[in-house]
Amino acid sequence: MDIPQLTDFSAASLDAAFGAVLLEAQRGKATAALDPEAFRLEWLGRKQGRLKQIGDAWFKAAPVEARKLIGQRFNALKDQIEALTTAGADGATPPGTSGFDVTLPGTTRRIGVEHPLIKTMAEIVSVFQRMGYSVGLGPEVETDFYNFESLNFPPNHPARDTQDTLVVAGQESKPLRDRLLMRTHTSPVQIRTMLEQAPPLRIVIPGKVHRNDAADATHSPVFHQVEGLCVGSDITFSDLKGTLDHAMKAFFGSAVKTRFFPSFFPFTEPSADVQISCIFCGGKGCRKCKQSGWIELLGCGMVDPAVFEAVNQRRVELGRDPVYDTRKISGFAFGMGVDRIAMMKYGISDIGLLYSGDMRFLEQFA
Ligand code: PHE
Repeated sequence: MDIPQLTDFSAASLDAAFGAVLLEAQRGKATAALDPEAFRLEWLGRKQGRLKQIGDAWFKAAPVEARKLIGQRFNALKDQIEALTTAGADGATPPGTSGFDVTLPGTTRRIGVEHPLIKTMAEIVSVFQRMGYSVGLGPEVETDFYNFESLNFPPNHPARDTQDTLVVAGQESKPLRDRLLMRTHTSPVQIRTMLEQAPPLRIVIPGKVHRNDAADATHSPVFHQVEGLCVGSDITFSDLKGTLDHAMKAFFGSAVKTRFFPSFFPFTEPSADVQISCIFCGGKGCRKCKQSGWIELLGCGMVDPAVFEAVNQRRVELGRDPVYDTRKISGFAFGMGVDRIAMMKYGISDIGLLYSGDMRFLEQFA
């Protein structure tokens, strides 16, 4: 080991000599990140440490008058080098010392991104917000009454079979309407909204729903829907068509066309399924639309008067006015699956990826 010699004991010369030793220690520290103990021994070891040897050499050479000055500086230097040994494991030096390696990468924190499902759901919701809809939410654990009975699915009616329901265990002692289940659609929030609010109303309801479906590339027991409900006087099927046609154009682009087919839902009459012109081929026919040029996207219809009746009846039970007078009030409702729309939009072929929590997948949406 090289011990620097000291022959000039002026203050300026001491500054330079001590500064040079500190700089060397700092450089050594920057490359010693992997073995901090070796660094400590090399510099601060009691017998063989560099500081000890430099101290001995300089004291021996110094005239008596200079020894006090050297002693003070030596203590300060020792403090500085000790500080280096306790600096962070990343090799950064404490504040006030210079010489850390500016080329080392900083400590980065990974920032999350919006999940593609949440992003898609928010975009759909905002299309309707711009048309004056407000946003409503409801519980995922529902009662039979809100999920089925009030929506005109009578007990034991076969229409219930179309929604494979996950029920909560241990509910058998309750009356059927109070039994708990995982909601199979967002439609119960239509009822909850009409119990709280008088017409006119326009509301969109995004949320998670559950069905007892085996998972495969296109099915997941948990998925997402956006529901819509518009109720007032003189609401017609034309309003429904115009609203959904506009919404599909706003979401997928103005070239998209819509068409409506007769369908069935217990809570709407008439009911329709809505198709949009294929967003992949523009309607010419391709593998994605099975050569038809159209993609089925949502269910909708005019609110069945039986739903308004159920709402009125429940409102009376709750001490509220039965304000959904079926002679004066009409409305439409619609519901769409968010997962399928997100998969189409982002070209995702397996729904399970949306629920895998796999960062390699999710990072692609950053
Ligand atoms: N709730 C229906 C479903 O999940 C969709 C729907 C909503 C249909 C509103 C018509 C009106 O299949």
